[in-house]
Amino acid sequence: CGIVAYLGHREACPIILKGLHRLEYRGYDSAGVALLNGELNVYKKKGKVSDLEGFIAQKDTHANVGMGHTRWATHGEPNDENAHPHYSTSQRIAIIHNGIIENYAALKTHLQKQGHTFHSDTDTEVFVNLIEEIQKQNACSLEEAVRLALHEVVGAYAIVVLSKDAPNQLIAARKGSPMVIGIGEGEFFIASDATPIIEYTNEVVYVNDYEIVVIRDGQLEIRSKEDVSQTPYIQKLAMELDSIEKGGYEHFMLKEIFEQPRSILDSMRGRLELEAGHLNMGGIRAYEQKFVNAQRIIIVACGTSWHAGLVAEYLIEDLARIPVEVEYASEFRYRNPIITERDIVIAISQSGETADTLAAIELAKSKGATIFGVCNVVGSSIARATDAGAYTHAGPEIGVASTKAFTAQVTVLTLLAMIMGQKRGTITDTKLRELMVELDTIPSKVEKALELDTEIQAIAEIFKDATNFLYLGRGYNFPVALEGALKLKEISYIHAEGYPAAEMKHGPIALIDENMPIVVIATRDSSYEKVVSNIQEVKARKGRIIAVVSEGDTVIPAMAEFVIEVPHTSEILMPLVSVVPLQLLSYHIAVLRGCNVDQPRNLAKSVTVE
Ligand code: G6P
Repeated sequence: CGIVAYLGHREACPIILKGLHRLEYRGYDSAGVALLNGELNVYKKKGKVSDLEGFIAQKDTHANVGMGHTRWATHGEPNDENAHPHYSTSQRIAIIHNGIIENYAALKTHLQKQGHTFHSDTDTEVFVNLIEEIQKQNACSLEEAVRLALHEVVGAYAIVVLSKDAPNQLIAARKGSPMVIGIGEGEFFIASDATPIIEYTNEVVYVNDYEIVVIRDGQLEIRSKEDVSQTPYIQKLAMELDSIEKGGYEHFMLKEIFEQPRSILDSMRGRLELEAGHLNMGGIRAYEQKFVNAQRIIIVACGTSWHAGLVAEYLIEDLARIPVEVEYASEFRYRNPIITERDIVIAISQSGETADTLAAIELAKSKGATIFGVCNVVGSSIARATDAGAYTHAGPEIGVASTKAFTAQVTVLTLLAMIMGQKRGTITDTKLRELMVELDTIPSKVEKALELDTEIQAIAEIFKDATNFLYLGRGYNFPVALEGALKLKEISYIHAEGYPAAEMKHGPIALIDENMPIVVIATRDSSYEKVVSNIQEVKARKGRIIAVVSEGDTVIPAMAEFVIEVPHTSEILMPLVSVVPLQLLSYHIAVLRGCNVDQPRNLAKSVTVE
């Protein structure tokens, strides 16, 4: 989702709408504007920015101060009410917000007791009412009320606030969600990234976490959460419009690969509370007993989501000791499967729209199973068809080949398996604690793995003309091998197969010769020694080995032609790290082959036909 705001001498509305168009690439499902001109008017609509434009065509939009928002639903389905901006109860204050407020439920109850009324299901409406309540209680300025409110909210935000009582003023703040200020001649711009700003000015200030921005009387002031004035660092942008639409990356896929430290963190937010030692997942609360007593778990999914399901099979059986079956949704739905009321079906889908997965859910539902969804798109068909679920907070994924959605799915499924293990008593407190501590380090380990980019690009140069690839892994890295092969196939059109390393002997070994690149995921885990033997088998047949190993490995570098060292982590969390170099490898090979990385031939992002 995206935010745009303007204060200056020009008409605000056209600038804001154009800015929202520029942010469309981020993905969204509704849009709105607030304009301040004596009155504070809010106009918003489900759908595209062009729908909003149609809606306001006949309205009075004259104003020199205003803000606009494109929303990608997190709390509450996409509709007119849930779209931003949101008013406070008195309609004197309006807000736009990117991010998630985790403690919104408690704040909402408190505010309702104070007489505030709510018209949407969003966490954002809670935020603006909190500001209003604080301003009323303390009889303070808007700026002070925003600052105090920020001390009460837990979560991530980039907000802009307008008040009817502060006619020539914009207040903004950020924590965890991006925000840029553009400084023009007697005018100011605020946006989620520089895209909407660049055509007006190249002088920008990137707002830091915990900073509050006050634009008033032709001045920009930045203050800390503790109310200490900060010196803004003004940068000159030397970017072309084209490139910044993808945040400076050449392709959405690369941007999304690099977003993973953040999207994994967002998917854990509010769920892994390390300090308090808690694991939470709102979605399973009402079904806790069903999960504890489940006789079997069936996972249905397609494509990359199916691979996340395979990782979940290992996780759930390992930690919660419930038998798991992972099914292609398309096969499951047509083979008269045995499903009982004591089964739980987990449906995994980035888009939440995949036709086969949806049909598999309907079938399982008709047999009385409980359906739990793991979706990325809020309010999507699958999210609505399930009994309960947990969203992955990966943000919009635009590249057709799924990357950050996969790691977000694995993150959520890891948390789910840990919670189930805890409730069923199949995991000791010590083990659980160790895992929590380790899971918390994953975003930084993924960040580290991303530093391998240049090294991987060099490997891609060497193998870009290969016609076949084999990917091998065992245990938790077996689904990673499948995912690595799928990524390569999808975007570079090189034939690739993923295989359990030991199973290679029963077929693919016949393909190995001195031209065959073989990617082996051989991180240090319980099957390490066995994978080393498999590498020997490949080497004996002159295959060219590219090995993904744990940092500091001294054995495999002596055997493999290329070695990619990733940070070490617990065996069961390794897929989150080991998949990263494989994503990068497929990306660079596809680019070097001149393929359309973001929109590979024949593939669709969301497959709504069976
Ligand atoms: C399509 C996409 C894949 C995706 C699969 C399942 O094939 O190209 O990237 O993994 O559908 O989609 P879903 O939205 O259900 O995860």
